Amino acid sequence: MASTLSLTQALLFTTASNLLRRNSLRTTVFSASFSSSSALSSDSLHRKKWAQPVSSLLELGGVAIAKDDVVRDDPTNNVPDNIFSKLGMQLHRRDNHPLGILKNEIYNYFDTNYSNKFIKFDDLSPIVSVKENFDDVLVPEDHVSRSYNDTYYIDSQTVLRCHTSAHQAELLRRGYTQFLVTGDVYRRDSIDSTHYPVFHQMEAVRVFSLNDLEVSGTDGTSYAADDLKKCLEGLARHLFGAVEMRWVDAYFPFTDPSFELEIFFQEKWLEVLGCGVMEQKILKKCGKENHVAWAFGLGLERLAMVLFGIPDVRLFWSADERFTSQFSKGKLGVKFKPFSKFPPCYKDISFWINESFTENNLCEVVRGIAGDLVEEVQLIDSFTNEKKGMTSHCYRIAYRSMERSLTDEEINDLQRNVREQVQSKLKVVLR
Ligand code: DAH
Repeated sequence: MASTLSLTQALLFTTASNLLRRNSLRTTVFSASFSSSSALSSDSLHRKKWAQPVSSLLELGGVAIAKDDVVRDDPTNNVPDNIFSKLGMQLHRRDNHPLGILKNEIYNYFDTNYSNKFIKFDDLSPIVSVKENFDDVLVPEDHVSRSYNDTYYIDSQTVLRCHTSAHQAELLRRGYTQFLVTGDVYRRDSIDSTHYPVFHQMEAVRVFSLNDLEVSGTDGTSYAADDLKKCLEGLARHLFGAVEMRWVDAYFPFTDPSFELEIFFQEKWLEVLGCGVMEQKILKKCGKENHVAWAFGLGLERLAMVLFGIPDVRLFWSADERFTSQFSKGKLGVKFKPFSKFPPCYKDISFWINESFTENNLCEVVRGIAGDLVEEVQLIDSFTNEKKGMTSHCYRIAYRSMERSLTDEEINDLQRNVREQVQSKLKVVLR
């Protein structure tokens, strides 16, 4: 038993490290497009035998990835099928998609204001090492973002990047000093109209040599912070014209000082980006002593929701022509016209939780069953029975399709499945 296990694990690590090694060589600038007839033909054989969907072999950043490279029934892997199906979709590379339109408009801003000096990457593979995703950007060992509850792990050393900051160090090491990285990022999370387990970020880094600036270390920090804020305020004006915005002090492991920019939208302050002056330690480790840098990471969906008036993140994934036909290349800020709004249907589920229960795990189960038909999962009641030492939660699940009316039968089926799987997978006691 023990030897079978270690053999399997050795193989898993080999596969993952191969993916990583190939990934680290690929960028939009250097990658040749990947096409291998042997990979394709083995896939079609595979499909015939197991009736797998077409998407079981993908190309990511010029590298072929098979479904079982990413999704495995193994305790070190927590990537579900519905997440695998999002890999390789690359919404941000579609010129007629709101995310692509927004990306291009940000490119325009940088090209115009920085004379095309920012090098752009938008095809780096989302499969990265724990080192790139966390260690290289100084995320502490005990930071929550490293947990299996928050991040999708392919194996213990490989994750689906949870932020585009995962590429900072490698690109610095390779000598880039001004760059933008756009990509899909993955996080286990709760479910509501602004959260989806896959979303898109754009990262920017600008490095200055202290020799060129002729300022000391601390002045270098203020110089970079001022330049950063000027850049982002200009970008916000470029995208929004007049919009209410505010700077909020923040904490990120990779920057000091750190800030967040918030924008006022639908009666709420919406956090749209994090930024700051890069920690010296990162620069030093990348061979950039005597330099200072700023960085930011911006959530494309958040900005696009505001700019295009898109009310629910799930819409970005819609292939419904009534959605896709409303956007076209170069047209930023054309307001989305909702096609008739379909009614939501609410179902409650109550259970006694156990020690390992988390809301993210619940949401993963619900999404695994209902996919994009689930709009929100909300805790509506919680109480503890002191005598029994047990806590009960009641969640309200909102089911709604963005595209059609759901039938009672369909919803009852979904809810029955949810009840069964919540019990069997999360080992909680239904009430
Ligand atoms: N990586 C951060 C996140 O996903 C965002 C971020 C914050 C990126 C500060 C940065 C930065 O480059 O400097 O929440």
